[in-house]
Amino acid sequence: MAEMLTVPRADPADLAADGSAALNPPHVPAAAAPLLRAERVAKRFPVAGRRGAQLHAVDDVHLEIGPGESLGLVGESGCGKSTLVRLLARLLDPTEGSIEFDGEDLAAIPAARFARLPQRAAIQMVFQDPTDSLNPRFTARQTIAEPLALLAGLRGAAVRARVDEVAAQVGLPPELLDRFPHQLSGGQKARVGIARALAVKPRLLILDEPTAALDVSVQAVVLQLLERLRRELGLAYLFVSHDLNVVRLLTDRVAVMYLGRIVEQGPSEALFRAPRHPYTRALVSAIPGQGPRIRLAGEISSPIDPPAHVCRFASRCPGVQDRCRREMPRLTPAPGPAGARRLVACHFTD
Ligand SMILES: Nc1ncnc2c1ncn2[C@@H]1O[C@H](COP(=O)(O)OP(=O)(O)O)[C@@H](O)[C@H]1O
Ligand code: SF4
Ligand SMILES: [Mg+2]
Repeated sequence: MAEMLTVPRADPADLAADGSAALNPPHVPAAAAPLLRAERVAKRFPVAGRRGAQLHAVDDVHLEIGPGESLGLVGESGCGKSTLVRLLARLLDPTEGSIEFDGEDLAAIPAARFARLPQRAAIQMVFQDPTDSLNPRFTARQTIAEPLALLAGLRGAAVRARVDEVAAQVGLPPELLDRFPHQLSGGQKARVGIARALAVKPRLLILDEPTAALDVSVQAVVLQLLERLRRELGLAYLFVSHDLNVVRLLTDRVAVMYLGRIVEQGPSEALFRAPRHPYTRALVSAIPGQGPRIRLAGEISSPIDPPAHVCRFASRCPGVQDRCRREMPRLTPAPGPAGARRLVACHFTD
């Protein structure tokens, strides 16, 4: 599958010695203001049957996504990826923190109200399983048309024309537009989901494991489609996946999550080639051809009321020391040529 994807890469002249993209000197402001900036974002859920207990699904997350940038979000099942992207898409209200889109604080707007605002169109989401996310009683055309009336205020012929246009963009033949989900293949349903998200011309597309429900061969085709769309439309992507190979190919930068927190972040190539956080090292070692596999012993700790001053990875970390059980490591710039673009939350990174 890897060979089938051609992903534009940075010009080698722009790369620092370790292959990561070169940094602006610290006094020069970044070229473009971020499209999305999340700060101190947290989401805690009450625990059924345990009064006062809280499940910390997302904790103290800082993230930025630039215009046209593709950011990957990886981590094992249950670490909080879906909760985080639902917060960023404003489908969920954060317990804490701010979420700015284009300089405007979205977290201040309740999710229920946000659903009807024009800003809603700028951030669109493609869900994991098209079978769950498509209305079984809607034809493909109705599914794609729905947000056009709701968010773009289009009516009648304008809706029809936009649906035809976006269907062509994602490679859905016109004769399939009158079919219901059960009359479509997995790949076709995935295209309907993508077309629906693109219809209102978003600037950020959030893809939560968009190919996880598809056969491997169909996956490759859909991933190529997503890469082409990003190039053609200049969209920013937030791409969630537990498949590191896919993330490596489709993203400029990656954030690694563990138990609700981001533990490492950096340019994709550099991060996969030389992971710094012990958890990222273990994840990357599981990719075939990446040298000896690091197997983690120990239990993943509970997300319910986790201790505030302990590294969340301490129960499984091969390099755990006393300090890790006294002090929570913060996400800070890692030393090295990639400088401030490489962030790691560990007391003992070299
Ligand atoms: N609505 C909810 N109520 C209670 N707990 C939830 C809810 N949604 C998610 N969680 C919990 O939050 C944690 C993160 O889940 P999720 O964001 O779905 O992780 P991922 O997408 O990485 O698999 C899990 O422990 C999950 O059980
Ligand atoms: S802070 Fe300690 S326990 Fe946490 S990842 Fe680093 S070495 Fe491991
Ligand atoms: Mg998920």
